Amino acid sequence: MVFPLKSVIILLHWGRMKTNKKINIKPADKILNLEKYIFAELDEWKQEARAKGADLIDLGIGNPDGPTPKPIVKAAIKSIKNPACHGYPCFRGKQEFQNAIKEWIKFRYAIKLDSDFGIQTLSGAKEGLAHTALAFTNPGDINIVPDPYYPVLSRGTWISSGDVYHVPLKAENNFLPDLDSIPKDIAKRAKMFFINYPNNPTSAVATKEFLKKLVDFCTKNNILLVYDLAYGEICYDGYRPPSIFSIEGAKDIAIEFHTFSKTFNMAGWRVGFVIGKKEFIDAIHAMKTNTDYGTSTIVQDAAIEALKMPYENVEKIVKKYQKRRDFMVSAMKKLGWEVNKTPATMYLWLKVPKGIGSKEFCRKTMDKTGVVFTPGVAFGKHSNGFFRVSLVQSLSKLKEAVKRLEKANVRYEE
Ligand SMILES: Cc1ncc(COP(=O)(O)O)c(C=O)c1O
Repeated sequence: MVFPLKSVIILLHWGRMKTNKKINIKPADKILNLEKYIFAELDEWKQEARAKGADLIDLGIGNPDGPTPKPIVKAAIKSIKNPACHGYPCFRGKQEFQNAIKEWIKFRYAIKLDSDFGIQTLSGAKEGLAHTALAFTNPGDINIVPDPYYPVLSRGTWISSGDVYHVPLKAENNFLPDLDSIPKDIAKRAKMFFINYPNNPTSAVATKEFLKKLVDFCTKNNILLVYDLAYGEICYDGYRPPSIFSIEGAKDIAIEFHTFSKTFNMAGWRVGFVIGKKEFIDAIHAMKTNTDYGTSTIVQDAAIEALKMPYENVEKIVKKYQKRRDFMVSAMKKLGWEVNKTPATMYLWLKVPKGIGSKEFCRKTMDKTGVVFTPGVAFGKHSNGFFRVSLVQSLSKLKEAVKRLEKANVRYEE
C-alpha cells in the first residue's frame, strides 16, 4: 500500500507534537500527602540486604508462616472446578457463608446475630476498614484512633480526606487509651472511633470494664465505634477476647471486623467479614457495591469450610504461636528486655534501648544480625520508643535469631 507523502509528513508531525507535549498528571493531594508506608520501606531494606547476600530471619511483618489447613484447601479445589463459581460473586456473600458466620459468632462469642444485624463479607479486614472510613467520613470530619495503630485504622480516614485525632496508648495505662484525656470538643465533633483489641502492635488486651467505658463514650458523643477483632482467636492460657457485642449498648453504635488471615492461616486468600447494626452495614455495602464485586465464590467456599471444620485445626495454629511466645518472652528477658507474657496476638512489643530511635535500632539490628523487627514508628508517632517482634517463624528459626542477637550483643540497656 502506498501513502501520499503529505499524509506521512502530517503523521510524523503529529507524532512529534504528541511526544513533545509535557504531561504533568499528579495523584490527588490525599495520596501525595500520605506518609510513606513504612512496611514498603522495610521491604526495601530487606531487598537491599538480600541482594548483598544476607540470610534474614524476618520477624517484621505479621504474615502467618503456616499453611492453610487441608480441609479448607480441599473445599477451594472442589469449588474451583465448579463452573458455577466462575462468574461474579454475590455482593453480600453467599447465604451459606452468612449462615456459617452466624453459627461461628454464636459458637465462639455467644452472640446471636438476629435480624437487627447485618453481615458484609470482605476481601480481608483491611479492605473493609478502608471502605468503612470512606463510607462514613466527610472531608474535614474527625475520627479518633489510638496510637500506635494498625496503619489502615488511620490511613482509611486520611484517604477519605478526614482528620485523625490520635489518643496515645501508654505502657502505664496497659496500652488502653485514656478516654478522659480526649478533649470535649474533639469528642463532640468525632464521627468514628477505630480501635483494635487484642492489639496489634502492643499485644495488649481490653478489659470488659474498659470496653463498657468505650461504648458509653461513643454513645454519649454519637460516635460510630469500629471494633477490629482481627486477633479474636489468637489467645493463650485460657484467655478469650470478648466481642464488642457482649457489652451492653454496643449493638446500637458498634460494628466489628473479623478476618480469616490469622485464625486460619489464610492471609493470602483475602477474606473477612464485618457485623453490626443493619443500617451501618448497609452503608459499607453501598460503598463496596461501587468499588468491587465482593469476595470470590471460591474463596467464600473455602471460608465456609474454615468456619465449619473442627475447631482443633485452629487450636493447632494457636498452640504453635503459644510455644513461640513462651520461648521468645524468656529469651528476650535474658537479653535484658522487660517483656509481658501477653495472653493474645502473635506479637511482642518491646522498648528500644535508650538513646536510639526505633528505625535506627531495627536497621542496625538487621545489618548486624539479619534479624528483622518492625520499628515502632511504623505504627504512629507515639511509638518511636518501641519495636515489634512478630512470632511468624518456626521455633528453630526463633532460636537461631536469639543466638544471633546474643552473639552481636543486641540487648536492652538503659
Ligand atoms: C489489627 C489488624 N486489623 C486488620 C488486619 C488485616 O487483616 P486482613 O488480612 O483480613 O486484611 C490486620 C493484619 O495484620 C491487623 O493486624
